[in-house]
Amino acid sequence: MRKKIVAANWKMNLTIEEGKTLVENLLNQLPELNESKQVVIAPSYVHLAQTTQLLDEYEHIHVAAQNVSSEAAGAFTGEVSAAMLRSAGVPYAIIGHSERRQYFNESDSMLAKKIDLALANNLRVIFCCGEPLEVRDAERQNEYVANQIAAALYHLDATQLQQIIVAYEPIWAIGTGRTASSQQAQDMHAHIRHTLAGKYGASVADNMTILYGGSCNDKNAPELFACPDVDGGLIGGASLKAETFLPIIQAMLAK
Ligand code: 13P
Repeated sequence: MRKKIVAANWKMNLTIEEGKTLVENLLNQLPELNESKQVVIAPSYVHLAQTTQLLDEYEHIHVAAQNVSSEAAGAFTGEVSAAMLRSAGVPYAIIGHSERRQYFNESDSMLAKKIDLALANNLRVIFCCGEPLEVRDAERQNEYVANQIAAALYHLDATQLQQIIVAYEPIWAIGTGRTASSQQAQDMHAHIRHTLAGKYGASVADNMTILYGGSCNDKNAPELFACPDVDGGLIGGASLKAETFLPIIQAMLAK
């Protein structure tokens, strides 16, 4: 059975003190998780050590980096390598977030390099894909997302692919308050699974965890997560407060 996951992407928010308070508040009220229903928290790099330490005794809640370098090591000022993350005890990295693609010019080939380095260092990857509004308006979203997946993932073999979690985040829904309808989310998640099945076979695709992200909150999470191909969420704004993030975890547990 595929894993259900709710992941928090804090983006560039929260001081060290605020991050500590948020994680402590979450842990104080954290419902029971298990091997197949897990939580991931992705703070910025400076929080990783503290967050790892706070989560140390919790088996099913993990820390993730929001990014990783496309280079292995060397003279790349300001970058953080996959090997560094692994050595800091970080088990996951988000790769290909639309904000990285858009504001930091991350290309498909750069993302493929990041994924290779992450996997070589035993990091699991939350790979983000999703179309801009003009593509959705032209009804070309299926082709667009399939191309993103092919460009970043198709060089992997089936064993490597199992280290990947896909997050579908339509750009027009990120931080806009305009979420995809549950039908739009289900349609795209089914399309992603079908696309992966075409390349890797139905049983591999069936086991892939596919998350929805984009204005997902405590109100709409139950309906989105009820969709058969939506295996949880990647949450931005609503992950910054325990009172909005905990109900989203509950919605995943109810699935
Ligand atoms: P919001 O939940 O703030 O729309 O952000 C979604 C996102 O980009 C998560 O990675």
